[in-house]
Amino acid sequence: RKKVTVNTIASLYRKKSPITVLTAYDYPTGLLVDRGHCDICLVGDSLAMVALGLPNTSALTVDDMIYHSKAVARGCTAALRVVDMPTGSFQISPEEALRNAFRLMKEGEAEAVKLEGGAEMAETVKRITQAGIPVMGHIGLTPQHENALGGFRVQGKTAKKAEKILRDALALQEAGCFSMVVECVPSPVAETITSMLSVPTIGIGAGPKTSGQVLVTMDMFGVFDRFVPKFCKTYGDFGQSMTGAIEKFVQEVKDGSFPDPESHTYAMASPKEVEEWA
Ligand code: KIV
Ligand code: NA
Repeated sequence: RKKVTVNTIASLYRKKSPITVLTAYDYPTGLLVDRGHCDICLVGDSLAMVALGLPNTSALTVDDMIYHSKAVARGCTAALRVVDMPTGSFQISPEEALRNAFRLMKEGEAEAVKLEGGAEMAETVKRITQAGIPVMGHIGLTPQHENALGGFRVQGKTAKKAEKILRDALALQEAGCFSMVVECVPSPVAETITSMLSVPTIGIGAGPKTSGQVLVTMDMFGVFDRFVPKFCKTYGDFGQSMTGAIEKFVQEVKDGSFPDPESHTYAMASPKEVEEWA
């Protein structure tokens, strides 16, 4: 596979070819995302819930993101690797945000970073992009603001609230974002925002008119089913088939049919050796 860069993403956008994004938190998933020809592999902070079983993303540190991002990078070499800045790592000051973005690049092998927020993050985005680090924005439903938003709910349902999201999008574009995630907004809102921008929007729960789509891989595999939002489509029931495989292993070990004495077993050098050993 040819290496995907931010230029590739810009070129897909110009050709109106939808941009595909999936998450990965470990080596095997990074490998799968790459082999499936996905354009962008996102090491999202959703890893807190999906890979670590935490109730939300708030406990994640830059070190956690680096640990997972390094593992993903070993498997995912062609897709553009974007790594989420965890909450608290970019809000204190643009300087601290830049320092942490560099850590994700140098230690976590990120090729771009993503951070949540609108116009209030513009100065920070500018600082990071001017240092040569591509930034992906994230507007609409921003899960790191769960407490302030009063839970995970659709954003921009009124014209006035949609207007604010559009202003955020324009501010992020102006600040230098090469693209932005638009999460959980009504389809007409995402469509208008997309048409007003000259950088690609990556939708999740934002309808079909964005420049690309992102899903959480374990959600769409049907593996992580503790909470499946309306916008998530499952492309397989791997959770069930994986559980089935485990049940089969347990049963076969219990009834002695695994391992098979022929196909899964090593022999000694010769029957004579067996005799001597016994
Ligand atoms: O953390 C994540 O996986 C994300 C995507 C859902 C956009 O931010
Ligand atoms: Na995220």
